[in-house]
Amino acid sequence: MPLKSINPTKTKSWLKLKNHFNDISGIHIYDFFANDVNRADTLSIDWNDFYVDFSKNKINQETINLFNNFLKEIDFKSSIEKYFNGNKINSTESRPVLHTALRANKDEQIFVNDKNVILEINSAKEKIKSFSESVISGNHKGFSGHKITDIVNIGIGGSDLGPSMVIESLSHYKTHLNTHFISNVDGDHVHEILKKVNPEHTLFIIVSKTFTTIETLTNANTVRDWFLNFADKEQISKHFIAVSSNTEKAVEFGIDSQNIFPMWDWVGGRFSLWSSVGVSISLSIGYEKFAELLEGARIMDTHFRTSDFPKNIPVVLACITLWYNNFFGFQSHGIIPYSENLKSFSKYLQQASMESNGKQTDRSGNLVNYQTGQIIWGQTGTNAQHSFFQFLHQGTKIIPLDFIGFSKPIKGNKQHHNILMANLFAQTKALMFGTNDKETDSNHKLFKGDRPTNTILIRKLTPRSLGSLISMYEHKIFSLGVIWNILSFDQFGVELGKKLANNILKDIENQDFNSHDSSTRNLLNKYLSTD
Ligand code: F6P
Repeated sequence: MPLKSINPTKTKSWLKLKNHFNDISGIHIYDFFANDVNRADTLSIDWNDFYVDFSKNKINQETINLFNNFLKEIDFKSSIEKYFNGNKINSTESRPVLHTALRANKDEQIFVNDKNVILEINSAKEKIKSFSESVISGNHKGFSGHKITDIVNIGIGGSDLGPSMVIESLSHYKTHLNTHFISNVDGDHVHEILKKVNPEHTLFIIVSKTFTTIETLTNANTVRDWFLNFADKEQISKHFIAVSSNTEKAVEFGIDSQNIFPMWDWVGGRFSLWSSVGVSISLSIGYEKFAELLEGARIMDTHFRTSDFPKNIPVVLACITLWYNNFFGFQSHGIIPYSENLKSFSKYLQQASMESNGKQTDRSGNLVNYQTGQIIWGQTGTNAQHSFFQFLHQGTKIIPLDFIGFSKPIKGNKQHHNILMANLFAQTKALMFGTNDKETDSNHKLFKGDRPTNTILIRKLTPRSLGSLISMYEHKIFSLGVIWNILSFDQFGVELGKKLANNILKDIENQDFNSHDSSTRNLLNKYLSTD
């Protein structure tokens, strides 16, 4: 059963939200605090290792009640059940969306076309586990008998961003293996990576769900050719593995069928780090830590599936975004983690969120006449403070922000951590209050405040808490897609550019630019005529 198609703007609750917006949008956030002493307690959620404070927003209890009614009116709960139960909610591709099954308990039963997919997932996990253990322990040897020291993940989009972000975030738990990522079809970068590794002790993982992505296949071919300068074809099986749902193409490329880790069409690329796509994660931090990451995601799945709205973290965050995006007209959203480990987190969320919800067509196939999608961007604090925070404090655009911080540092350096976290708390306070309680002698020094933030305070950065954090955002993305009445799990918007690039590549090879507009023609002529 697909998701229902309900235009959110035509609901009774939307009209009520609109009237409520007219009533409260002019109220400064600090006035909400002044009028409600319990605000921070009622507008926050304490769950597991997470404390989510959403009180520094332009909302009050009435906003929450109205959103509660809105979610009931669109039968939001039934959408969650369809998602978890494997209904074909990716309607345009007629597929279920089951990344949640990848982290479900091993004795659960989730059926796709009458087959319990948990059994296949369990056996893929066994394969990841035993392979990781044999590489980490040194049992798996390269062609000259050396153990593996380096792994190179070759993939792009979801076949790169998830694993690279997680490995970077959890570098503290690293095994002896060095990990490298080749994603862009930029030959200079491939060259730089190959300069760093020795073919005798390097394992290459080609990750492509479709095994047709030109960037990945070009990179994989270049790397294989480079490898064959040092070893025979028979040695490829010791150094190349693949993760793909297209076994035939992977075998055609030269991967031993034993070395192919499965992927399924019911896992979207941008939600695939929990699948065999995470084999680089398992190699990098060990299978047990990988399993903890999955467990962290699973407990957030349960929270999302079972908690009622005002205490359901992903749904609350989704409603706040909807509030700003569709009522206030704030189009972008910043992600500011106060942990250098999370420096790629916003980049990861860009794909997860913008490839999912950058859609203009509703679930009935009609073009929408309201805003969808969020522009996601960010940088770690405190670096971001010395970069674009000027804009956030005094610019004319309002950017709602998520501040992510940890109560405990990984290595226990309290002095640094206190400074780091004092900055986080100070920024959310400054953004909210501004200088409204003080005299300013010049408008240049004026901070208007009233700039909304959520603070996600987590006990410590661990595989488990990271799993929960990623899962939290995945479910926020899903919730927004449901509410906006769009289809979050296809990505037809990437196709046109791919097609044109293929055509232009042929034209470059044939040096024939006549079919192009004058701008493209001039650019291509200039490109080819440069010595
Ligand atoms: O950018 C489009 C896309 O299909 C992403 O959704 C996906 O993560 C990426 O390309 C890579 O695809 P594949 O894993 O099939 O190579």
